[in-house]
Amino acid sequence: MWVYEKKLQYPVRVSKCDPRMAKLLIEQYGGADGELAAALRYMNQRYTIPDKIIGLLTDISTEEFAHLEMIATMVYKLTKDATVEQLKEAGMAPYYVNHDRALFYENAGGVPFTATYIQAKGDPIADLYEDIAAEEKARATYQWLIDMTDDVDIQDGLKFLREREVVHSLRFREAVEILKDEQGKKTVF
Ligand SMILES: [Fe+2]
Repeated sequence: MWVYEKKLQYPVRVSKCDPRMAKLLIEQYGGADGELAAALRYMNQRYTIPDKIIGLLTDISTEEFAHLEMIATMVYKLTKDATVEQLKEAGMAPYYVNHDRALFYENAGGVPFTATYIQAKGDPIADLYEDIAAEEKARATYQWLIDMTDDVDIQDGLKFLREREVVHSLRFREAVEILKDEQGKKTVF
């Protein structure tokens, strides 16, 4: 079970209505390397990972849900005051006819979220390498998103999220080392 706080992990500010940026940011909401995929992947893998690593997966999964909440807040703030004309100009007409301004799990190209974005192999090393790759891809996506806006308020939130992906990647790498030590064998990179 979880105890939750009624505040975001990090403050989310946007300086202006910008549906164009919202359309791009939705990638980290329902895209392959986004926060939903990360949260669900780790929460699910934890059941068959060795005991020493369960807490790590639970911790990081929980934090990814907090990041999902931040992305949702950004998309909401960027679109809540947009006119239908502004949404059309931003290429969000297909999104609007499906969802109005409601949040929905899809990527920047409009493809709905799918469980095929994630895997649970049952092999701890295979799963952890997937997790490291996921964190690195999420980090890169955040950088590309930062490059797509001149809104320093959004950039601030995205930089926080980018740095958390770096920390997660490092922690998953440590987990690999722990398992390798236990198995008494070296994995060749
Ligand atoms: Fe992460």
